[in-house]
Amino acid sequence: MWHYLDGGRDTVCGRANRAALDAMPLRPRPLVDVRGGHTRIELFGETLGHPLLLAPIAYQRLQHPDGECASAMAAAAQDGQMVVSTLASQPLEQIARAAEKPLWFQLYWQGDRERTARLLDRALAAGYRCVVFTVDAPIKLAASPLPADVRAVNIEPPGQRPLRPGQSEVFDGWMADAPGWDDLAWLRARTPEVPLLIKGVLHAADAARAVDLGCDGVVVSNHGGRVLDCAPPALSCLTEVIAAVGDDVPVLFDSGIDSGADALRALSLGARAVLVGRPYLWGLAAGGALGVAHVIRLLRDELEMSMALCGRATLADVSADRCG
Ligand SMILES: Cc1cc2nc3c(=O)[nH]c(=O)nc-3n(C[C@H](O)[C@H](O)[C@H](O)COP(=O)(O)O)c2cc1C
Repeated sequence: MWHYLDGGRDTVCGRANRAALDAMPLRPRPLVDVRGGHTRIELFGETLGHPLLLAPIAYQRLQHPDGECASAMAAAAQDGQMVVSTLASQPLEQIARAAEKPLWFQLYWQGDRERTARLLDRALAAGYRCVVFTVDAPIKLAASPLPADVRAVNIEPPGQRPLRPGQSEVFDGWMADAPGWDDLAWLRARTPEVPLLIKGVLHAADAARAVDLGCDGVVVSNHGGRVLDCAPPALSCLTEVIAAVGDDVPVLFDSGIDSGADALRALSLGARAVLVGRPYLWGLAAGGALGVAHVIRLLRDELEMSMALCGRATLADVSADRCG
């Protein structure tokens, strides 16, 4: 279980994520009156107390028997938001009830449009208010050996696609089940009622194309270094993606955020909010919902302190010019 959670951190890409964040200084600006400061943001029509979202992480009952419900409860109690994974280990409806507020849903393509539509409809019926479509990891890559009592309870069992002689297991097997640009256009048309974000974008051209197809937001991410080991550090792609999509499209960031200062680094480059992955799972493993709430609170305290030391009272002040 530890290996599954920690995977991607001590890789070339994982280390590069860390190094890129560490290489970005935050320059103190004393003597600024920051009284009345806060970390509130407006995001897709919702006011959140802070910009530290819980990233979609699969199989959270691996870390704690209360699983995704505990994380969702903590996110809501801390006035934040959680993106619930397609590979959640508890029913989407039960997680939504635990949060007592509408959550976001992370979608993995389910091999074809019919299966994907069934999953999507279920999430929307359960009240999920935003869809985050992850495109950087074909779902079969995510397969890991699991204990008997933990599984992705919300998805239908994957179909079998036998390979013909001469076909490649990668190109014709795994990737045959991955989505394409036309599927993204279909997904947009299929979900007019909710904001649609695309997660796992590192190239300005891909971000621009997704927005042209109607996406409302982009998550710059290399999946925390877990997929393509020679991918660039996500932080190094943030500025060009923001420039490509323009100011009206929120760009979110994840991969390597371990502290409030890390969050401020990404926010100061123009990210509207950040997603935090592994740190809250450590909290979940250590203390269930209270552990997750504690991690969120720590990160938020660190963010407030870093903002104050940089002379920024609000996140509008942060985005006005770089803290570096
Ligand atoms: C154990 C684990 C499982 C993950 N499962 C998913 C998933 O189901 N869907 C998804 O979009 N991203 C998934 N991710 C990626 C995270 O959403 C996020 O991009 C990444 O963890 C951010 O990096 P950080 O952990 O350094 O904060 C997973 C990451 C980890 C560590």
